[in-house]
Amino acid sequence: MKDTHSASKEPLSAYEKAAIEGHDPRCTPQYLDGVPPIGSEIVKPVYSDEHNDNWRFLLNRQKSLLQGRAGQAFLDGVRILGLNDKGIPGLADLSVALETATGWKIARIPGLLHEREFFELIAQRIFPSTDYVREKNELDYTPAPDCFHDIFGHMPMLTEPAVADFYHLFGKSALNATGNQRTCLERLHWFTIEFGLIHQVDGLRVFGAGTMSSKNEVVHALSDEVEVIPFSLEKVIEQDYEVWHLQPRLFALDTFDQLVREFRAWAEKEGLLA
Ligand SMILES: [Fe+2]
Repeated sequence: MKDTHSASKEPLSAYEKAAIEGHDPRCTPQYLDGVPPIGSEIVKPVYSDEHNDNWRFLLNRQKSLLQGRAGQAFLDGVRILGLNDKGIPGLADLSVALETATGWKIARIPGLLHEREFFELIAQRIFPSTDYVREKNELDYTPAPDCFHDIFGHMPMLTEPAVADFYHLFGKSALNATGNQRTCLERLHWFTIEFGLIHQVDGLRVFGAGTMSSKNEVVHALSDEVEVIPFSLEKVIEQDYEVWHLQPRLFALDTFDQLVREFRAWAEKEGLLA
């Protein structure tokens, strides 16, 4: 069989390399071609009925699981952003709502980004989001980024002022991190932004995007199968995690201000906010 690629002498793209290695190419980080469209520059795609149906199915399924599980800040965020089952919302409209709430904007990106490009946006209070939704055969699970995770999972918490400030500080710190500091930041991201828990007056609640966009994680997170540890930044940065399984151990904040306070102190001590 003719190898058309080596014949053309063109370098392989990240997607092509991943396909050859057998990975889902959508999970391969990629570089942006230039500055991505931000806020009002983002053109909403014309979604098919099937894609809007997929969004509707995912949103209604998650919403039915959130009662008594989701933190109040997340529920408030869903309302502020106007997320509903009419169809996939436009990123430009979401950007306006987010900017009004906490000064964050949204950039449209084509898929998983390389870390540095991701954090360069986060450090400017710009959240990178995809605008395509998973396919029908992936409704229960997809390892790839999609707009249900980015929009429904991540954006509601960015309307919460302390979380918005934490993530901004996180992005700035990530750009300066080296060596073990990077591992610490990955763990902090995992156990807060993706899988964080918070104590409310009415009980323990979930707020992380990884939890909110997964039907299994949202039920599992507050079950007896999870060991819940009081949040302490020093403990979190020592805690390894497993990407491909349900989380056996999670950390619970007392308040979102605690997260900002502990993170700022640590990042300053590490020289990451200079
Ligand atoms: Fe995420």
